[in-house]
Amino acid sequence: MAALVGPREYSLEPQRHPSLRINAKEPFNAEPPRAALVSSYITPVDLFFKRNHGPIPIVSDIDRYRVSVGGLVGKSIHLSMADIRKLPKYTVTATLQCAGNRRTAMSKRRKVRGVGWDVCALGNAIWGGARLCDVLELVGISKNSSATVNGGKHVEFISVDMCVEENGGPYKASIPLRQATNPDAEVLLAYEMNGEVINRDHGYPLRAVVPGVIGARSVKWLDSIKIIKEECQGFFMQKDYKMFPPIVDWHNIIWPTRKPQMDFPVQSAICSLNDDDVVDSNKITVTGYAVSGGGRGIERADISVDGGKTWFEARRQQKPGDRWAWVLFSADVEVPADAEIVAKAVDSAANVQPEDVGTIWNLRGILNTSWHRVRARRTPRRSAAGLGHPRL
Ligand code: MTE
Repeated sequence: MAALVGPREYSLEPQRHPSLRINAKEPFNAEPPRAALVSSYITPVDLFFKRNHGPIPIVSDIDRYRVSVGGLVGKSIHLSMADIRKLPKYTVTATLQCAGNRRTAMSKRRKVRGVGWDVCALGNAIWGGARLCDVLELVGISKNSSATVNGGKHVEFISVDMCVEENGGPYKASIPLRQATNPDAEVLLAYEMNGEVINRDHGYPLRAVVPGVIGARSVKWLDSIKIIKEECQGFFMQKDYKMFPPIVDWHNIIWPTRKPQMDFPVQSAICSLNDDDVVDSNKITVTGYAVSGGGRGIERADISVDGGKTWFEARRQQKPGDRWAWVLFSADVEVPADAEIVAKAVDSAANVQPEDVGTIWNLRGILNTSWHRVRARRTPRRSAAGLGHPRL
């Protein structure tokens, strides 16, 4: 039996935190409650969203585990965890965001297909591991290469989980070789999450972490890494996680017309309030997160209490130097009795979230980055007339 295997069914799933909101049980897909998500800059592992397409793989013998690195290179190699750990260790604080984050809200405008997510299909973790560019040097590919002598231009990550969409085959995805070999892109083969050995849900023993790119490309439970000519032809690259215009629906979709989504766009959401909430004061603090892909920082987070007519700038919190991490924002605002509170963020390239979800609606419900709106109603104050004096 191989040292890392993907089970066929769900009897050996790991324990999960009881406060997670389960969006699908098998495969397990869950996100933390809004308030819990923004209560810390680094998301605790047990509250980090879990996004799976099959049963969680199992390592039967870590000493026998090997990840192979091969394809369009001279000679393939098989690395044990000890070999990977011998390479210089890097830690990168990066926000991983699922492309399906906020899908439920998009579906309310017009139905989309896919697991429903509220606003918490993301988390910010400290990933520890070897840099992919250092691993690729072991097979003779130098830093900042865009092609190998054998014509390899992409790096494919292949897992072992059995996915229905792949007809029982493993999850796989690829990134361009240029990104994989660029030290500044900080692509990791991670074996640690928040200073601990990465757990089963998040990819034990080894996963890819591709900062600034939709979570779908950060493949968990790595079995092999292949240098290939064209991008990965797997389901999740070619028939999923692509952004189509609103006119495309299931009757007229032509998958090859669009490229696989890589970087994620600027995003933000309010997490201190639910969609329709009651507040007991007219002065409240609105908190949430803002993040952008491709290493673009957050320049501003704007808050409105009147549905987007007027705006305040929120305070931002981020550890200096964290290029791939989210920003947590907060703003003390006075709210009218029935307020529509809105958040929108602006990234370092001045990209702004779109106002209306209809303009970015797409049949798979990915990348809902429209302004995030919640309703806050004040608990009705008892009026003098209603204070309970008996009528004489
Ligand atoms: N890797 C494997 N092998 N199988 C998967 O189902 N899901 C992907 C990615 N890597 C997935 C995977 C998706 S869509 C996302 S958003 C992230 O893992 C989620 O990572 P997490 O569960 O650690 O939060």
